[in-house]
Amino acid sequence: MIRIDSVTKRYPDGTVAVDRLSLDIPDRAITVFVGPSGCGKTTTLRMINRMIEPSEGTILIDGKDILKEPVNTLRRSMGYVIQNAGLFQHRTIIDNIATVPRLLGWDKARARDRARELMGRVGLDPALAKRYPYQLSGGQQQRVGVARALAADPPVLLMDEPFSAVDPIVRKGLQDELLRIQDELGKTIVFVTHDIDEAVKIGTKVAVMRTGGRLAQFAPPAELLTDPADAFVEDFLGADRGIRRLSFFPAAGLPLLTTPVVAVDATAEQIAARATPDVPYLLVTGLDGRPLGWGEPHTLTAGRIDPARLIGHGRPFEHATESLRAALDCAVLSPTGWAVAVGADGRVTGVVSQQTVAEAIRSAHAAAPADEKAAR
Ligand SMILES: Nc1ncnc2c1ncn2[C@@H]1O[C@H](COP(=O)(O)OP(=O)(O)O)[C@@H](O)[C@H]1O
Ligand SMILES: [Mg+2]
Repeated sequence: MIRIDSVTKRYPDGTVAVDRLSLDIPDRAITVFVGPSGCGKTTTLRMINRMIEPSEGTILIDGKDILKEPVNTLRRSMGYVIQNAGLFQHRTIIDNIATVPRLLGWDKARARDRARELMGRVGLDPALAKRYPYQLSGGQQQRVGVARALAADPPVLLMDEPFSAVDPIVRKGLQDELLRIQDELGKTIVFVTHDIDEAVKIGTKVAVMRTGGRLAQFAPPAELLTDPADAFVEDFLGADRGIRRLSFFPAAGLPLLTTPVVAVDATAEQIAARATPDVPYLLVTGLDGRPLGWGEPHTLTAGRIDPARLIGHGRPFEHATESLRAALDCAVLSPTGWAVAVGADGRVTGVVSQQTVAEAIRSAHAAAPADEKAAR
């Protein structure tokens, strides 16, 4: 565990970048520092690997004061990733990734084998190994940066706005990849961002900092969204805090109706039997069980329903794995006001009305959010 104990950083010009910061960074989890620009995030991160020394206070790793450790030993135990990856432009991708193992004295073949293994781990095509950084996209370069930081298998990974310079879609991919890598490798990750959505998505615990380097709140994301400590945190979390909080409640508890679902070859009797006064539309599925669209019962031709004449069903949600937020989104976007639930195989498992989703949301307000994040 990394313990930051009453740490202050005052720069020579008098700027107090970090002010009596105390917090415990848990092992094998992702701790995120988030806050507006200039609030002291980078300064804090760099004090952990001693690129910057604190003016006051101590930082302990597993109970030992880092100022009493040789700085090289300390840095070797910490991978460091920055925005724009900071790759060596004159070295190939594989040699960039092999940098630290080579510094540690590994022979070239072993270091390159390790680099190739890491390319796979961070989702890079091995065919890119011989290229130079300028021949890669921003997202690919960022993956190289992560692979390079992991090369010597350090227990700690420090990441300073690593994904801030890439576009939103690539960024989402990088975030998902980091969560996957973390599941596999169980590193202690300290991650800096100014983006609260990113913090909530990837953080096991999130430290919200305010200008002047003071800690506003340190809590798991669901707790931040439920119980912001003050107006600053609430403001920083943004206007759709309540909706984002629903990400932490599974959709699995939603009761599904299977009555208003018919197959594309349904008989007249089946259509008549499934049309009920409280459900004005029937969901039609293909013979493979996947959703095709909605239709009013009297418009459906028995035996051979025409998919082209159905109303689109929108994106379905996966009942077992997704969140109430996904179900709500689905119901809100559905032209019929009903959301379509599917299993992992994409087959329809039932439908649920906006009203039922709303009732589940009301019970969620009273309940504590789950520790485990449901998929969003
Ligand atoms: N070398 C420095 N000398 C003086 N002030 C600095 C120095 N580095 C950073 N600062 C100031 O310290 C504060 C915190 O900076 P920083 O840790 O980089 O914030 P963040 O990463 O949250 O944007 C800012 O006000 C910044 O201008
Ligand atoms: Mg910074």
